[in-house]
Amino acid sequence: MTDSNAPPRTLSVELGQRGYPIHIGRGLLDDPDLIRSKLGKGRVMVVTDTEVAPHYLGRLLAQFDDPAYVVLPAGEEHKKPEGLTPIYDALVATGCGRDATLVVLGGGVIGDMGGFAAASFQRGINFIQVPTTLLAQVDSSVGGKTGVNHPGGKNLIGAFHQPQCVVCDTATLDTLDERNLRAGLAEVIKYGLIEDTAFLDWLEENLPLLLERDTDALVHAIARSCEIKAQVVADDERESTGRRAVLNLGHTFGHAIETLTGHRDWLHGEAVATGMVMAADMSRRMGWLSQDDCDRVRCIVRSAGLPVTPPPADSAEFLKLMARDKKVAAGRIRLVLLRALGNATLEADYDDKHLHATLDAALD
Ligand code: NAD
Ligand code: GLY
Repeated sequence: MTDSNAPPRTLSVELGQRGYPIHIGRGLLDDPDLIRSKLGKGRVMVVTDTEVAPHYLGRLLAQFDDPAYVVLPAGEEHKKPEGLTPIYDALVATGCGRDATLVVLGGGVIGDMGGFAAASFQRGINFIQVPTTLLAQVDSSVGGKTGVNHPGGKNLIGAFHQPQCVVCDTATLDTLDERNLRAGLAEVIKYGLIEDTAFLDWLEENLPLLLERDTDALVHAIARSCEIKAQVVADDERESTGRRAVLNLGHTFGHAIETLTGHRDWLHGEAVATGMVMAADMSRRMGWLSQDDCDRVRCIVRSAGLPVTPPPADSAEFLKLMARDKKVAAGRIRLVLLRALGNATLEADYDDKHLHATLDAALD
């Protein structure tokens, strides 16, 4: 981390009555008005996890009158239906009603779980996202996808529920371990690949600064990522036209890796990173990317310290796991592929031989 003069940025997700601001900057956790101005009349319940609580829970609680809180065990393996019970129990035990606001402090796991609890408790209460991982700041806190995993697949149980606001304090990234920082970079790279080659150029030059946690570089990367995500979500909030699906570049391959490895050994961002390399390889086989484009994707993923090859697996088993993806329609796996760098599309009409060739080459 280095000193910065970067002013905080505020973006908005334009969804009419469900629209909300995203605040990005260093030290925003010490600006109580950002969150307080979005609270309802009822009680505040903060949801966080055991890793994040010692660093930031006290500071956040100090902003509210008589807040309640619940601390969940950290980790993707707890993102399951049973993992939600302590949140519902705490909401009931503290007398929270429909006017309560749930404030979710943590990474994407806590954001998805807290968001789903907010979507379902008393058929929906307000919530605020305070993301503390890079991945959550650039992706999972924005757009309203909430949910938990099922042993049969990632995020199979969930709801769309938009937050009242998102507050990204880049200072919280100071305590994030290096592996999780790199995992967050996978989703940042994703935005360049799907939508913005100028951003990809910028990333190639500035990866070292991002890895050093330079504040200005982080604020720029988070803001550009959130701008792209906010636009895509505004175009297709409930992923009904195929537009929002482009945010899932690499995810169908990646979710298969995560399920294959029991949601334990690979971080979500790592699986997405390898999935993007596989999607680029298949796009080359479709005749859309050149070998140079593919090498460029592999190189930026590798430069971010992320894996480019999946774990050993049988390709038929891998394919079966890919077929559990939520983008499957009429029995067909739909894949996000790259027509060109910066131009991702959702494809159902591809020759299966290209998918098989990609799997065989990667899983060899
Ligand atoms: P995570 O929430 O598990 O966080 C990673 C680890 O870092 C955890 O151990 C956490 O306790 C710890 N941590 C968090 N913030 C910290 C901090 N500031 N300092 C120290 N430690 C900290 O993982 P993640 O990568 O943030 O999120 C991954 C999840 O997000 C996956 O479940 C994925 O499916 C989901 N996701 C959802 C969306 C969406 O649109 N809803 C998008 C992308 C990913
Ligand atoms: N991370 C994919 C989405 O929000 O749609």
